[in-house]
Amino acid sequence: MSAILPPPERVWWKQPLDRVELLWIVIALAWCLVMFFMMPYWHIYGAQNLANEAYRSKPADYAKKAEEMIAKYKVREEGEMKVPVVRPPAGSDVYLIAQRWRWHPMLELEAGKSYRVHLMSMDWLHGFSLQPENINIQVHPGYEHVVTLTPTAPGTYSIICNEYCGVNHHTMASRLYVVK
Ligand code: CUA
Repeated sequence: MSAILPPPERVWWKQPLDRVELLWIVIALAWCLVMFFMMPYWHIYGAQNLANEAYRSKPADYAKKAEEMIAKYKVREEGEMKVPVVRPPAGSDVYLIAQRWRWHPMLELEAGKSYRVHLMSMDWLHGFSLQPENINIQVHPGYEHVVTLTPTAPGTYSIICNEYCGVNHHTMASRLYVVK
């Protein structure tokens, strides 16, 4: 049969199913079902899942909480832009602002301790990407994402924006320090 010419039998769906066609339908369906059930399975048993929560709140309120935290726990400033570096106590709430085109402030966390890291955008969609760990979270305005994070290995990690957010998207990068 050709795809260009009309079929000899116009009512083609009444023709018997070819064995090969049936085999492929069964394979495709079985694979769909495997993937479908892997989603809930992996959500429960997958070790890579983030422990995150999300709340609605206003960017202005969020910025206020972040500035309060920065004033309280700032340990130094970095670079020409004088980016504040904060070292909040273990177990505390940590606020990171995404705003075109910066992450504010820089964080310094202790290895082996847990933190509640909050994320929100002040303007539009940004993407939190922690490298080289490959943790990715969309950062929206009006939604506060809270990720319970326990850094395990000391080092300097990169935070980059992985959602295109305008002309300076490529400059939206920061650091996360994990210290002993
Ligand atoms: Cu922010 Cu791209």
